[in-house]
Amino acid sequence: MTRTPTPADRFSFGLWTVGWQGVDVFGGPVREPMDPVEAVHRLAELGAAAVTFHDDDLVPDDATRDATLARFRDALTETGMGVEMATTNLFGAAVFKDGAFTANDRDVRRYALAKAARNIDLAAELGATTYVFWGGREGAESGAAKDIGAALERYKEGLDTLCAYVQEQGYDLRFAIEPKPNEPRGDILLPTIGHALALISELEHSEMVGLNPEVGHEEMAGLNFAAGIAQALWHGKLFHVDLNGQHGPRFDQDLRFGAGNLRGAFWTVDTLETQGYDGYLHFDYKPPRTEDVEGVWESARACMANYLVLKEKAAAFRADPEVAEALETAKVAELSQPTLAAGETLATVREESFDVEALAARGCAFERLDQLAMDHLLGVR
Ligand code: GCO
Ligand code: MN
Ligand code: MN
Repeated sequence: MTRTPTPADRFSFGLWTVGWQGVDVFGGPVREPMDPVEAVHRLAELGAAAVTFHDDDLVPDDATRDATLARFRDALTETGMGVEMATTNLFGAAVFKDGAFTANDRDVRRYALAKAARNIDLAAELGATTYVFWGGREGAESGAAKDIGAALERYKEGLDTLCAYVQEQGYDLRFAIEPKPNEPRGDILLPTIGHALALISELEHSEMVGLNPEVGHEEMAGLNFAAGIAQALWHGKLFHVDLNGQHGPRFDQDLRFGAGNLRGAFWTVDTLETQGYDGYLHFDYKPPRTEDVEGVWESARACMANYLVLKEKAAAFRADPEVAEALETAKVAELSQPTLAAGETLATVREESFDVEALAARGCAFERLDQLAMDHLLGVR
């Protein structure tokens, strides 16, 4: 296995990630604006396969839209890079201070639909196959301000309307909702993978809507990302993924992938590689404010390298005969056996006699298994 990425690895980056100028709540920009054309070239050189964008990252100014898009298309052609996903900035402008699809003000909601539809057209034109909805401003800071039931109705209306539009246009595009518990709103609607999955099942065109979970967002809520995406995969809903790093429940750190919770990253890679995910591996991180532009490219390179190293470690763990034996002892495969055999009913087990004390006394042997994973991760096996 090689640790040098190639397009076959399906790595992609948001233009807003390497282009982040370091503006935060406490300070202004620390880096010059990044030209999307420069980002495409540098990411291609580093071995990425594709880029992604918000409407406003790529086309910040309507007056120069055509010229900007022409230069961007040329950069894609010259490098062979693709656009795999796009999304709408429905959070930055003052008009979205109370949300977009769920703003109390109906005119704001109507404007948000129009803005999203316009960029869906561009996404389809550039060949994107996923369209992300991250509702960072869909939420509230206080209890009476938002009727949650009504907000969810409007969220559904917005997604239903845009799904119908995509179908009418015949675009080859699926939607992916990105959950986040808080920040920028005090509480955001669809705070976790589970909440978003539940909403999806209520949608008119639920088959074309899945998830774009982000490592840091689930970990901000104290949740296990690998377990979350494993459930999303089980539902057939892991359409896309935002990989980055986070140190537990605190503000959204958007660290490079592999930083923060390294053991979590190991299981994330193991899950993505063994549970049937075949989409893009998208990095959504923010190079820290401390870095100059060379630090930006170093962190982008490191996101991909860390993924490849963890992929190598996870594969070595899965191929280790001692691990196979530990898995057997821990009865991991036994869980795939139905609890009732063919022809058995609930009555069968109600009539069975159980030695509960003996069952309770059986050890599960999970510690040995976990330590083997740790040994692989630490490089001592
Ligand atoms: C965050 C979010 C955003 C979204 C992106 C797509 O850091 O809170 O991840 O980066 O992914 O804006 O809309
Ligand atoms: Mn984030
Ligand atoms: Mn994200």
